[in-house]
Amino acid sequence: MIVIPLKKGIQSIITYLKTNKVILVWIPAYAGMTYFIINMGIKVEASAPGKLMLFGEHAVVYNYPCIVTTVSSRIYVEVEKTSGLLKIDAPQVKNVRFVEETLKLFSQKYKVDNKILVKTYSDFSSQYGFGSSSAVTVATIHALGKLYKIKISKQGIFDLGYKVVLNVQGVGSGFDIASAIYGGTIYFVTGGKKIEPLTVKNLSLVIGYSGVKADTSKLVKNLKPDFKIFDQIKKIVEDVKISLLKSDWKTTGELMNQNHQLLQKLGVSTQKLDKMCEAAITSGALGAKLSGAGGGDCMIALVSKAKKEDVESSIVNAGGEIINVKINV
Ligand code: MEV
Repeated sequence: MIVIPLKKGIQSIITYLKTNKVILVWIPAYAGMTYFIINMGIKVEASAPGKLMLFGEHAVVYNYPCIVTTVSSRIYVEVEKTSGLLKIDAPQVKNVRFVEETLKLFSQKYKVDNKILVKTYSDFSSQYGFGSSSAVTVATIHALGKLYKIKISKQGIFDLGYKVVLNVQGVGSGFDIASAIYGGTIYFVTGGKKIEPLTVKNLSLVIGYSGVKADTSKLVKNLKPDFKIFDQIKKIVEDVKISLLKSDWKTTGELMNQNHQLLQKLGVSTQKLDKMCEAAITSGALGAKLSGAGGGDCMIALVSKAKKEDVESSIVNAGGEIINVKINV
């Protein structure tokens, strides 16, 4: 809130109003001093984390479960009311349609106008497949809720965010939206049928980027569903849910390898991802798999503290790039 004394001159106030697009409120209590209160142009910020798929990718699109965790990299969204049209300044966002669609659906649902200036900031690149689109969608809903003082439940944010994903991409399980809302590690079933936070402690992963940007929606649309493989993936997800909760890293690593083999059978892995996973295991990782849609993006390797550096070097030697982010935050 800014207070300008009128005695500064009406002309300077009119100039200020034109450039800052503000509303004037006359306060009778201040009549003697003739003040105007300017009460618009308020900026509100919110943020949401990126995600890392741990187990169950692709099957989760077809009513199966998956396990996903958050990464420490976040997207920040700042919103501000304007008197002009919707304006989006989101250089880090791969597809601004996620922001446009969020504003459209939010204003329809909560009957508010969408003359908003949206700015985004990010501490991760959209190229790694950490879910910048879902993070920006969730952060925008949080920011708009704060701006219009509307309390929205986690389920409400999920429903709106998932609708945005389906309207923009046409496909998707919604696991990334749920991850950005709930944080930590969650067990998730398609469309949010189940969202269960898991208390996972001391999960130690190395993340390797393959250098190739994957096109998730193309991969999902092109995949011929194989329900026999999906059933096997489901069994792995159910078993790993238990081993993760028990911090049973040996079993978790074995299940990771099995999940990768099934993704290979589905045809979504690449030579580069396979090479990085093999290198990680040869140098002492307890298990390794691709993470996400495949076709590129990242792989993950489960490591003990003692083997971490060896595994990192072997992934780099296999042509990968190590991504240093915290997980399960
Ligand atoms: C992509 O990171 C994970 C997929 O299962 C797609 C989805 O669940 O929306 C392939």
